[in-house]
Amino acid sequence: MKRSRWRLAVIALLAGPEAAVATAVRNAFDAQRRAQDRLRSFVADASHELRTPLATMHGWIDLYAQGGLRDPEQLDHAMARMQAEVGRMRLLVDELSLLAQLDAAQPLDREPVDVVALAGEVVDDARVVSADRVITMRGAAEAVVDGDGPRIQQVLRNLVGNAVQHTRPGTPVTVSVGTRDEQVEVAVHDEGDGIAPEHLPHVFDRFYRADPGRGGGSSGLGLAIVEAITTAHGGTVGVTSAPGRGTTVRVTFPADHATRRGR
Ligand SMILES: Nc1ncnc2c1ncn2[C@@H]1O[C@H](COP(=O)(O)OP(=O)(O)O)[C@@H](O)[C@H]1O
Ligand SMILES: [Mg+2]
Repeated sequence: MKRSRWRLAVIALLAGPEAAVATAVRNAFDAQRRAQDRLRSFVADASHELRTPLATMHGWIDLYAQGGLRDPEQLDHAMARMQAEVGRMRLLVDELSLLAQLDAAQPLDREPVDVVALAGEVVDDARVVSADRVITMRGAAEAVVDGDGPRIQQVLRNLVGNAVQHTRPGTPVTVSVGTRDEQVEVAVHDEGDGIAPEHLPHVFDRFYRADPGRGGGSSGLGLAIVEAITTAHGGTVGVTSAPGRGTTVRVTFPADHATRRGR
């Protein structure tokens, strides 16, 4: 009787660490399976997205091969359509490869970058492209982050691009940059129609579009890239939006050491 109790205690002692190891191994396998599932659905979605412009180009080429584009005007039209599709594919491939690089979690190139200067360039470009809009910049004169300048600028381009692309012509856009609680915060606000509550939780998902009818040149990857770049810097991202009240996307990046000391 006594001996069997001892045996049970010894078994429990031995089982303790083994059970912990078994749980850790199981968790690692689960994590790996989830990563594989994510990758599989990413590849499936990417192929699906690439198939659409490919099918369109195929259609035009077939039409040409069957002698359906004799007229030079028709041919010009076909070429212009194919050029647009090639442009879509190039954008998509660029965005996909950027996301794949970010997924690989390689260390970022970090140096002190002034987010105000980066945002200023993005706003200047947007004003030239969308001359019908009032695009306002306000906030700090300087806000320095230890980060990868071109990628942070990509974040700003995607956000300002969305405010322009997903709102009606003429809708005002405001970009604010400030430093708060050792964070540099950028808010891109528009006075557009806003995003419906049922779509809002999904806008950072890869390939998600809340308004697929509204425009070409839309991959549904812009905000996924924003999130990937921001979190790679140790920052955060959030969106508030309501129909009729416009949309605000806020990103934060940890301020660089000099800014934190109150340079
Ligand atoms: N400022 C905005 N106003 C309204 N809808 C927006 C805005 N920004 C993003 N969205 C919605 O979120 C979706 C996802 O955005 P994003 O990932 O940048 O993809 P897209 O390539 O479509 O711009 C968009 O398709 C759009 O429906
Ligand atoms: Mg976008």
